[in-house]
Amino acid sequence: MHILIQGAGRGIGLALAQRARAAGASQLFLTARDPQSAPGYDLLPPSDDVMWLTLDVTEPDSIAAASTKVTAATDQLDRVIFTAGMLQDGSIRPEKRINDIDADVLTRVFQTNALAPVLMARELWPLLRGTHPLHYAALSARVGSISDNALGGWYAYRASKAALNQLMRTLSIELARANPAACVASLHPGTVDTNLSRPFQANVPAEKLFTASYAADCLWQVLDGLDARMTGGFFAYDGSPIPF
Ligand SMILES: NC(=O)c1ccc[n+]([C@@H]2O[C@H](COP(=O)([O-])OP(=O)(O)OC[C@H]3O[C@@H](n4cnc5c(N)ncnc54)[C@H](OP(=O)(O)O)[C@@H]3O)[C@@H](O)[C@H]2O)c1
Repeated sequence: MHILIQGAGRGIGLALAQRARAAGASQLFLTARDPQSAPGYDLLPPSDDVMWLTLDVTEPDSIAAASTKVTAATDQLDRVIFTAGMLQDGSIRPEKRINDIDADVLTRVFQTNALAPVLMARELWPLLRGTHPLHYAALSARVGSISDNALGGWYAYRASKAALNQLMRTLSIELARANPAACVASLHPGTVDTNLSRPFQANVPAEKLFTASYAADCLWQVLDGLDARMTGGFFAYDGSPIPF
């Protein structure tokens, strides 16, 4: 299998890359903004079957450059998983009320959380089209479900994940015409013990806080169970569908 994991330097993306290796991937394309300083780089060092690529999903030139390298190295991808996500960073915090809304923050969170899968699908299209089974997935979040939103707050994060889900759904329809065996999926990993969730774990019961490795195992199994008939869906770590 030829597998691309965007955001494999740390967190759930790194655990997914390790899972991909354990599943016997014949070629792994792994990305991070600065691969050599990422924990994943030492754990899965470059080799004949592991290629690290520099990729910042907020930079179109970076997306194009990474895609060009992948396209030069293979003519088919079997599984692609996007994991880029931000909830807070530096002075950016998830909004609690309308006064916290900031246009630049909204733009940056959308650029990071929503856009990469379709921008890269455009670049990688020749490797996605065909008749081969393909899983094209992105890590979303249950809080991106519009129908499930009873709590409010976290405007940028929620809306960016809802946008991601809609972009994935739209992509699934076009990709089905170019590759009838493709399955496009948005995935909720559960609450996972990573840098992203650490400031928000205080009220999470221990049994509901997953390790990255457990979440990756669950997500891998979910993908293994999905086929083209389920394309365009939004699924939790246990395989249950989440309403949009
Ligand atoms: N942890 C949870 O409880 C939880 C729950 C629901 C959904 N999720 C989703 O799961 C995904 C992975 O999160 P995580 O928990 O593994 O968090 P994490 O450990 O903080 O990892 C965040 C990932 O996003 C990447 N990233 C951030 N900004 C980027 C950019 N501009 N360009 C490229 N990559 C960028 C990081 O890459 P670098 O190493 O290059 O910085 C890193 O791989 C996110 O989409 C998150 O929303 C997580």
